Formats: sequence, structure tokens, C-alpha cells
Amino acid sequence: MADKFRPLKDAFGRFATGIAVATCRQPDNGFRALTINSFTSVSLEPQLVLWCLENKAASYPHFMEADSYAVSILSADGEALSNRFAGHAPQPLAATEYDIWETGAPLLKSRIAGFDCRVQRRHRAGDHIILVGEVVRFDSKDGAPLVYYASQYHSGFSTS
Ligand SMILES: Cc1cc2nc3c(=O)[nH]c(=O)nc-3n(C[C@H](O)[C@H](O)[C@H](O)COP(=O)(O)O)c2cc1C
Repeated sequence: MADKFRPLKDAFGRFATGIAVATCRQPDNGFRALTINSFTSVSLEPQLVLWCLENKAASYPHFMEADSYAVSILSADGEALSNRFAGHAPQPLAATEYDIWETGAPLLKSRIAGFDCRVQRRHRAGDHIILVGEVVRFDSKDGAPLVYYASQYHSGFSTS
């Protein structure tokens, strides 16, 4: 069946983005991880970011329940990670794959930047919810990003 949203998706997809993995800790101390490209920086003072979560996503209740999340920006070689966390089934994280900072949400070690955030506000917006987070700790390093454009992964430029 034809996707009636294809033309709109094609237009939205002309805005090139990075790829990130949003994570949260569950009450049983397990983790949820989800590939996103809706991450955006918002404010310097206070330090705010946002990303958008689809209402129908399997991880929706987990991120709604959590009072914090982390965002790991993927490097150019992160396509397999992106695909891994874009599937329907929850993906366990090995202890060697992440760091834990202030909030308890895991940051992927193979990131070029990371943001550990407390949820500041949730805004309903159509079929997504906007999760605004206050950044409590962050880092960044040189490297090439994984880029998403027109429904495809790209790479090819770097900070150094
Ligand atoms: C490149 C890419 C970007 C994505 N960005 C988002 C996003 O910003 N927000 C979101 O809720 N889902 C996003 N997704 C979808 C989720 O990663 C995931 O595929 C989807 O939630 C899985 O479906 P389920 O949770 O309903 O099982 C993206 C997927 C890909 C491949």
C-alpha cells in the first residue's frame, strides 16, 4: 500500500540531520534505547535540548515514566548502532558499551557528543511528544558524524 505521507516525509527529509541514540533507565534498572534524528539544541542558559518521540513507539511508556534521559550523538561508523536501536525489539546494552553519569541513563561509549538530561517538560505535539531536557552534563570530541539525509545515511566531513 502506498504511504500517503511519503511526499511530506520526502520534504522533511531534505533537512539533513545527525543521528543520535536516546536512552533511559527503567524502574527495574534495565535500559531503553531508541535511534532518533529529531534531536535539537534549544537554549544555552539554561542548557536545554529536545527531541521528539512518536506516541506509538514501543519505548514511549518507558520514556514517559523516566524523569531523565541521555542522548548520544553517533559517529560516522555508527550505522550498525543506528539500525540496532531502530528496530521494534528492545536491545540490551552490554556493560562495556556505555557510561553512566549523573542521571543513571546510559551514554554510548562510541559517541562524538553526549548529553545527560533531566526531563524539564513534555509537550504533546500531534503524533509525537516533545521531550525537553535540561543538560546536567555533556561532552564532545572531534570526529566525523553519522548524517541522515533523504532517508539515507551519509558521512564524509569531520571536525579535525
Ligand atoms: C534515522 C532514524 C531516525 C529516527 N528518528 C526518530 C525520532 O526522532 N523519534 C522517534 O520517535 N522515532 C524515531 N525513529 C524510529 C525509532 O528509532 C524506532 O525505529 C521505532 O520507534 C521502532 O518502532 P517501535 O518502537 O514502535 O517498535 C527513527 C528511526 C530512524 C531509522
